[in-house]
Amino acid sequence: MTPGVKPLVAGNWKMNGTAASLAEVEAVCAAPAATTFETLLCVPATLVERAARKADGSALMIGGEDCHAKESGAHTGDVSAEMLADAGASAVIVGHSERRTDHGETDGEVAAKAEAAWRAGLTAIICVGETREEREAGDAESVVGTQLAGSIPDAMTAATTVIAYEPVWAIGTGLVPSSEDIAAMHAFIRKTVSERFGDEGAAIRILYGGSVKPGNAAEIFAIPNVDGGLIGGASLKAVDFLAICDGIGG
Ligand code: PGA
Repeated sequence: MTPGVKPLVAGNWKMNGTAASLAEVEAVCAAPAATTFETLLCVPATLVERAARKADGSALMIGGEDCHAKESGAHTGDVSAEMLADAGASAVIVGHSERRTDHGETDGEVAAKAEAAWRAGLTAIICVGETREEREAGDAESVVGTQLAGSIPDAMTAATTVIAYEPVWAIGTGLVPSSEDIAAMHAFIRKTVSERFGDEGAAIRILYGGSVKPGNAAEIFAIPNVDGGLIGGASLKAVDFLAICDGIGG
């Protein structure tokens, strides 16, 4: 955790969820509201409006999982940041490794999406992370450094941006880096963004993502410069998501 920074526990439902899943949103909202950290569920675009209605009046925020860089236009099948905001989202994930891999998104495209998020009044959750091969080759920091340089626009502020470090090899695999490796990468990210953005970089939230579960959350959240988590599979069930949130408070 970073002193003075309010942690964030964010869920990422990915391509999961139908109307029946809104019961999980309700269950998260029904839990006592935390004052020491924030909670967010990023859900498929089809569910944003209904989830936001469920969460209305609660501490839970609702977000999207991706957005187009443009406000509107001839982009069949895409969803703009303005559309997500209109549906009730307050944040959007950009540059998730599954987008970078499945859709070939470049750092420049991710940066444009982050700017689109800000334009629409959304918090941009910018994801970075190395592959297993890159880590084994000793290139993890240089890969993440390049992603940070290219994916974060100059206008970044700590209030409008969150960085999520998600080692690709840890996503959905049950594998988690050692606490030392997480600490080293988060310290590297903090140093990199502090050098570039000064106080904004010192205050930005840096989430860890990749196989965070109820059983390992408290240990991961206790690592310096880990300001919460981005939770995939374990965010689909309210009971697991809430148990992970308990890991913040100890
Ligand atoms: P996971 O996914 O928690 O299922 O590993 C994390 C993510 O992709 O955001």
